[in-house]
Amino acid sequence: MLRTHNCGELRLEHAGQEVIVCGWVDTYRDHKGVLFVDLRDRYGETQIVFSPNPDAPDQGGALMETARSLRSEYVIQVKGVVEGRPAGTENPKLATGEIEVRALECDILNRSLTPPFMPSAPDLPGEDVRLRYRYIDLRRPEMQRTLLLRHRMIKLMRDYFDALGFVEVETPMLGRSTPEGARDYLVPSRVQRGSFYALPQSPQLYKQILMVAGYDRYVQIARCFRDEDLRADRQPEFTQLDLEMSFVQADDVMAVVEGLMDRLFGEVLGIRLTLPLPRMTYDEAMERFGHDAPDLRFGMELIDVTDIARECDFRVFREAAESGQRVRGINAKGAAAGYSRKNLDDLTEWLKQDFGVKGLVWFKVDADGKLGSPTAKNFSESHLRQISERLAGRPGDLLLFVADAFEITCRALYALRKRFGAELKLYDPSTMHLSWVVEFPMFAIDEETGGWTAMHHPFTSPRPQDRHLLRDDPAKCRAQAYDLVLNGSEVGGGTVRIHDQELQQEVFRLIGLDPAQARDRFGFLLEALQYGAPPHGGIALGVDRLVAIFSGADSIRDCIAFPKTQRAVDLMTGAPGEVDAKQLKELGIRIEK
Ligand code: AMO
Ligand code: AMP
Repeated sequence: MLRTHNCGELRLEHAGQEVIVCGWVDTYRDHKGVLFVDLRDRYGETQIVFSPNPDAPDQGGALMETARSLRSEYVIQVKGVVEGRPAGTENPKLATGEIEVRALECDILNRSLTPPFMPSAPDLPGEDVRLRYRYIDLRRPEMQRTLLLRHRMIKLMRDYFDALGFVEVETPMLGRSTPEGARDYLVPSRVQRGSFYALPQSPQLYKQILMVAGYDRYVQIARCFRDEDLRADRQPEFTQLDLEMSFVQADDVMAVVEGLMDRLFGEVLGIRLTLPLPRMTYDEAMERFGHDAPDLRFGMELIDVTDIARECDFRVFREAAESGQRVRGINAKGAAAGYSRKNLDDLTEWLKQDFGVKGLVWFKVDADGKLGSPTAKNFSESHLRQISERLAGRPGDLLLFVADAFEITCRALYALRKRFGAELKLYDPSTMHLSWVVEFPMFAIDEETGGWTAMHHPFTSPRPQDRHLLRDDPAKCRAQAYDLVLNGSEVGGGTVRIHDQELQQEVFRLIGLDPAQARDRFGFLLEALQYGAPPHGGIALGVDRLVAIFSGADSIRDCIAFPKTQRAVDLMTGAPGEVDAKQLKELGIRIEK
């Protein structure tokens, strides 16, 4: 070993000991000829003191010369004696703040170019610079804390499932495409020219096959690949805690996950959960919050006024109500004063652009409790009063309404609620709210084809009582599906699966796969289902999202050692990159420019 101690472990009790420490030069200061260096490694920081040695001037001279040549991020080895810091110079913010190491020898193990930014500087450069020089960025204590937290959470997960008899089985990266709703990343085969592997969007089909194979309780920390539009909480490759169980119902899978959450919250955050976690149906979530992963840390629920709208004189509202659309609103409590006419016009424009609303009606509640706005004149006093009462309007409140198809009112009011929730500080960002959303619809309309598509994935079982709806009314058919929601973020999703070959065929048919197509893509599954497939179900949790929320990071990119940008580029390695003409030729691929 090149060191006797790391930079985070020396204390007053080591005073008088000769030690060797190694690390990176974080900062250096010259104090009237005495040099102070903060030496940093992933364990902490230790102050090194270089002072001229009156007893051995020559030796001291060489040491001081080396010390003066030190620069930021040089890697050095220092031999020295631990000393208590002089009274009044201790640093209570540092774990090693009571001591310093008086240097006797110093070796420069490696020099560094001037780094593009300092790991300990308070202001960060742009994210592009951080990603380009990720090795510097990862030296930052905050990044190290997050990656250590990630390690700890994954270790806890593995320990928890091991104790419950789950077996971790690795599934292939080079496989066949599974439909999780995104585009596949494809890998061309050289041996089978013209054929492609798909990187897994999830291990979904392999884990189901493992149930058929009798493995009963499967778990995997699994890497998944999805070519989709990226956002702060989405990466093209990400990690799932993936699990599957046989001979279970939805409640059993949910109970296992709740046990894990209890452990994670307890051991990592010191928060005791009340179990079982609250559950809300999909329909209720859409009705009350406009979204299937609502943030339940605050109220400001969506309120329906369609019945009042149907009776009122305002044409826009009345016609919407009469044509089967909905008129819904929220009460941004106390927001009236903070929103000028111009602000509200901008807000309307934003909703039109991003959510396709036709307009936004707003009212400010005045000191007398009356609703005021340019549109108010279109309503009778009585209708205004009814609207205000429905939304519990109080002086100073801002009431906002959208009249449109249900889905559009959901999207627009969800966005408004999210925005006002944060702006009005309706919740403490450090609080946590965990819950389930259940009974999702089996199908949604595919916007491209106009046909049905599976809301979760097509291996999801309908509720037994809804099976007849597959034929009679697919829109009403509800799935045995459950999503785990943390602070308004979907951190997990799972379902009870179809284990009956005929039911599976029926669902494939409904989403537009004829028997030949189904056999072509999922023949192996349909076949396996005929060889003694047990009832089974499972779930996958988004590890990156969980770590992000636990660590308070704004983006999952901050919880992944080497993430990609919004454009799916790794700025450090330059991936994706071009390949040699020879490689392309072997694969039989020609690139069209
Ligand atoms: P699903 O597609 O819901 O389910 O994914 C499970 C969880 O993975 C996380 N997640 C992501 N995290 C980061 N970047 C992404 N691009 C991304 N996409 C999804 C989310 C999500 O809740 N096979 C099924 C699970 C099952 O049915 O057992 C599946 O993959 O937190
Ligand atoms: P108009 O009758 O189109 O001039 O609209 C009058 C007011 O109603 C404007 O403030 C619009 O923003 C608003 N508005 C129009 N359509 C809708 C709608 N579908 N939902 C909510 N507000 C609307």
